[in-house]
Amino acid sequence: MPVIHRAIPALRRLRLSNTAFQQQSRLQPRPAQVLRPASQIVQLRHQHNNTEKAEASTSAGGADHSPQEQPDRPQSKIKYTSESYPNLKRDSRFKEVTADDVKFFRGLLGEGSAVLDGVTQKTGEEDFEAYNADWMRKYRGQCRLVLKPETTEHVSKILKYCNDNLLAVTPQGGNTGLVGGSVPVFDEIVLSLSKLNTVRSFDDVSGVLVADAGVILQQADDYVAQHNHIFPLDLGAKGTCQIGANVATNAGGLRLLRYGSMHGNILGLEVVLPDGTVMDDLGTLRKNNTGYDLKQLFIGAEGTIGVITAISILCPQRSPAVNVAYFGLESYEKVQEAFKEAKKQLSEILSAFELMDHQSQDLYRQASGAKLPLENDYPFYCLIETSGSNTDHDSEKLNNFLEHVMGEEIVQDGVVAQDETQLQSLWACREGISEAGQHFGGVYKYDLSIPLGQLYDLVIETRERFQKNGLMGDSDDFPVKEVIGYGHMGDSNLHLNVATRRYDKEVEKAIEPWVYEWVSKRNGSISAEHGLGLAKKEFIGYSRSETMIALMKGVKGLYDPNGIMNPYKYI
Ligand code: FAD
Ligand code: MLT
Ligand code: ZN
Repeated sequence: MPVIHRAIPALRRLRLSNTAFQQQSRLQPRPAQVLRPASQIVQLRHQHNNTEKAEASTSAGGADHSPQEQPDRPQSKIKYTSESYPNLKRDSRFKEVTADDVKFFRGLLGEGSAVLDGVTQKTGEEDFEAYNADWMRKYRGQCRLVLKPETTEHVSKILKYCNDNLLAVTPQGGNTGLVGGSVPVFDEIVLSLSKLNTVRSFDDVSGVLVADAGVILQQADDYVAQHNHIFPLDLGAKGTCQIGANVATNAGGLRLLRYGSMHGNILGLEVVLPDGTVMDDLGTLRKNNTGYDLKQLFIGAEGTIGVITAISILCPQRSPAVNVAYFGLESYEKVQEAFKEAKKQLSEILSAFELMDHQSQDLYRQASGAKLPLENDYPFYCLIETSGSNTDHDSEKLNNFLEHVMGEEIVQDGVVAQDETQLQSLWACREGISEAGQHFGGVYKYDLSIPLGQLYDLVIETRERFQKNGLMGDSDDFPVKEVIGYGHMGDSNLHLNVATRRYDKEVEKAIEPWVYEWVSKRNGSISAEHGLGLAKKEFIGYSRSETMIALMKGVKGLYDPNGIMNPYKYI
């Protein structure tokens, strides 16, 4: 029998075994659904988006829209950033917050929950932990005042006051950032956008959404889903992160290869500058060639030159047919072949091509208790998603692709989701890696752009490095538990994570700046999508020339001459 015919029944058998896999998945506690044909997947996806994605994002999810919390591990154990990085010194130009300052902010925002005041009120450190400690539990600031404005005018008055009085400010969204940019370093005031969370308008002819910065990504997507559109960004922290912050970080996520970056999709922004000036560039048109495109500067600026208060974004039509497949492959070369074939054969319906190595899936299994989709282990796994407008057409394309990659033995084994629950569970294997990475104590995260041919070499070399230097092992004596590689293959974006049992300077020293040198030698980028924040600030020179850094410093000085916006970070 030709290989090609053996391949397809194998997929089908595995499809059936998926039901058992579903029932055991801790991230998907809902009972397994009756299997439905792929044609119904999208309706189900729309109906269940709210609950399922929020469940899947677990620690990044927060029903009350407050910043991330991880109640199972006391945050007081996190060292202050100033202790972990003693070279960082508080900028003495900045004033400390006084009772008079608090009085001004209360007068503006009222006596309610919009001001969290540890300056004049008796509060415990724990009241501020959700704002001071970051998602990785690596950075911890010492802020004693959190402000939650409800209008753009509030933001304007707050920033003008801070600028006039030299009070430093850290803008904060859902606090899911992964570079230490979202939390204060010292006593900066946290300006939370969480109460600025209204959808202003949606035009279902053009697909343009205009919404406040503090709208949660999941909610924005649910909103446009009611009009058969999709928010052109999706990521594991969707249940908590905010759309304004997504723009401020130029977040990439899981479907960039299909929908493009924020730089392409954002049509307009409303931004408050540090002196309180409101830059109203909230246009809704795709074309506007009149002068410098200033809004682009704020995309990816990480709150260093202004606060984004609203965005205007182009949302594509939601695809009525979505399929997800999960493959096991025997080598990285095969992964590249599979990617080439996916682009060739699935072309316009390909919406995600994600890479996961065996170590990342094994760590996810250990951390979540979930059973992996395939019975056997493979060195590499890929998750492929297609989104199209015609179910029959998509199924035919997908089947041809599956026949080819199985028949040619590019892929060793695989499953295709048969219903919404299975689809979510396959995605959980990919999205759950972030949480698994830091589950055992801590994680050193490297988010890198590397030419595809060399992308996985870095993971191998890093693993060898830790094996040789005696920092990695199976017992608690060793700080490093595992080195994992995963990421957005479709965007040449590797996530190299060193999963540790604790944060340890020896680990950091063993990998930094070596990892940045490695990337720089291959003309990669030291930050593909997470940004610079505090973690990457001092390494920007590995990806940008001196001329460019000088120009960037000029921009910072022009917009924020007093340097009050998110100090100590970025540049
Ligand atoms: P925060 O973390 O609160 O802030 C991020 C930065 O933006 C900070 O510098 C902050 O000062 C600034 N900021 C916040 N709001 C504003 C504003 N309104 N105006 C100006 N500046 C502002 N990132 C990706 O790119 N791709 C992924 O696939 C991805 N997956 C993730 C999965 C998980 C589980 C987690 C925990 C994180 C992931 N991230 C990913 C990182 C993070 O979610 C993104 O960077 C996201 O855009 C941050 O949104 P946030 O609301 O949490 O912002
Ligand atoms: C992802 O792709 O999962 C995110 O960027 C988060 C991470 O790097 O863990
Ligand atoms: Zn990512």
